[in-house]
Amino acid sequence: MPDLLELTGVSASYGRIQALSGVSLSVPEGSIVALLGSNGAGKTTTLNAISRLVPVQSGNIRFDGKPIESMASHRVVEGGVVQVPEGREVFRDMSVRENLEMGAYRRKDPKSVRADFERILDYFPKLRERLQQRAGTLSGGEQQMLLIGRALMARPRLLLLDEPSLGLSPVLVQQIFGFIDRLNKDGLTILLVEQNAAVALSTSSYAYILENGELALQGASKELRHDDSVRRTYLGH
Ligand SMILES: Nc1ncnc2c1ncn2[C@@H]1O[C@H](COP(=O)(O)OP(=O)(O)OP(=O)(O)O)[C@@H](O)[C@H]1O
Ligand SMILES: [Mg+2]
Repeated sequence: MPDLLELTGVSASYGRIQALSGVSLSVPEGSIVALLGSNGAGKTTTLNAISRLVPVQSGNIRFDGKPIESMASHRVVEGGVVQVPEGREVFRDMSVRENLEMGAYRRKDPKSVRADFERILDYFPKLRERLQQRAGTLSGGEQQMLLIGRALMARPRLLLLDEPSLGLSPVLVQQIFGFIDRLNKDGLTILLVEQNAAVALSTSSYAYILENGELALQGASKELRHDDSVRRTYLGH
């Protein structure tokens, strides 16, 4: 059985900047896989290649066994691959409710959209209290919850999360990762991009480390946590 997501030898460039070179990784159904690396390593580019927001120069991307490396981005989303972008881009002038509804705008199943809306508010009770509030006035942690909630409204089979811990206090990071863990336990497959290696390695089952657009290291997260070079470079020990 193929894994839910499989990248084989994927390269991508921005003009003359080679951002990814021959990256191969896979995400088994039901797992959380982490993609780590320092600034500019190519993490966001990897997610954007999967979402079809940057062109794939060479290599293959398979989702659920089917090639998607040449698909239009909206079709990838409809197929169940949904990305939560880096840097908390909520629709600031829209209410929390409208932001969540935007996540479902391509869906044509109003009944199950309503059911998902309620389910998501059960996950994030803070958002339920603030449905009418303008999203731009939410706290950083609440905006991150809203972004994840909005992505869930699109019914993902695979969630691509780009640095959910960015700019959040340690308490909020714990809280967000608590939600991520729960979503996964309820069956959602997640590819998690993080600079916070400590929290990512304790949440994921397997991890890949990118350096300068190439895979430098991979392994079971449990083992990478005890790897000397990982501890020195990414865990600050
Ligand atoms: N739109 C773009 N145009 C030109 N170069 C880009 C563009 N986006 C990214 N790059 C370059 O590609 C490389 C990889 O960038 P990428 O955003 O994938 O890194 P990242 O691992 O997500 O970093 P960070 O942790 O800072 O978000 C970097 O050298 C970056 O400068
Ligand atoms: Mg990035």
